[in-house]
Amino acid sequence: MRIVLVGPPGAGKGTQAQYIASHLSIPKISTGDIFRANIAARTELGQLAKQYMDRGDLVPDEVTISMVRDRLQQEDARDGFLLDGFPRNVPQAETLKKMLAEWDTRLDVVLELVVDEDEVVRRLSGRRQCPQCNRIWHVDFDDKRDGVCDDCGGRLYQRDDDREEVVRHRLEVYAEQTAPLVQFYSDEGILRGIDATGPVEDVTRRALDALRPFE
Ligand code: AP5
Ligand code: ZN
Repeated sequence: MRIVLVGPPGAGKGTQAQYIASHLSIPKISTGDIFRANIAARTELGQLAKQYMDRGDLVPDEVTISMVRDRLQQEDARDGFLLDGFPRNVPQAETLKKMLAEWDTRLDVVLELVVDEDEVVRRLSGRRQCPQCNRIWHVDFDDKRDGVCDDCGGRLYQRDDDREEVVRHRLEVYAEQTAPLVQFYSDEGILRGIDATGPVEDVTRRALDALRPFE
């Protein structure tokens, strides 16, 4: 299955992507995670991306698109994938469509995680991430005051772009550039929206129910 997850920053895309991808045995491809791994490894790509990410702006399309093109051509993505964080504007969506058509394929479904702005701010302000396994936690909801990843023992960190003023800007960027994708994919007839509030397991159940017809 070829799936795209959309939703505002903090909607739970990364959290749900880890469960959905493992349930469907497809790779989870997160552009944000790939950029963060490049920043940690101090690559040229990472240095470029960091300037945009720290401000909450989008990394330029040509950089992001060529990175995704390379990733989608890897063996493990041949028969399916879950994209988290890409596409993020209409030009990226149009390029993805053309790219898949070149390979004689297309997206099956775009899953929209619907959640309001107050909840998003609450989730982002308490988010912690593991630098080793990329697992996402929340200080309060997961009782993670010890700052240690239960899965691998990694030291959890807070993302630079989760500072309040940057979060506010990311929400504006989402409204201006990413929200139009909802209409784009609705016009294509492949959009499915789910309520992304409530316990993580409930959201996962709704997501898998919405995806079942495409399996
Ligand atoms: P990216 O990493 O994609 O960030 P984002 O889209 O802003 O999304 P987030 O990762 O902030 O949120 P999420 O929806 O994954 O929520 P999460 O599961 O973590 O992008 C970062 C930057 O990279 C961008 O700003 C841009 O600069 C650049 N970039 C990336 N892709 C790009 C592209 N295609 N083009 C250009 N630039 C690009 O959950 C949040 C918190 O809530 C966690 O603490 C979690 O534990 C908690 N939580 C989740 N679900 C629940 C629940 N049901 N109940 C309670 N808490 C929950
Ligand atoms: Zn970990």
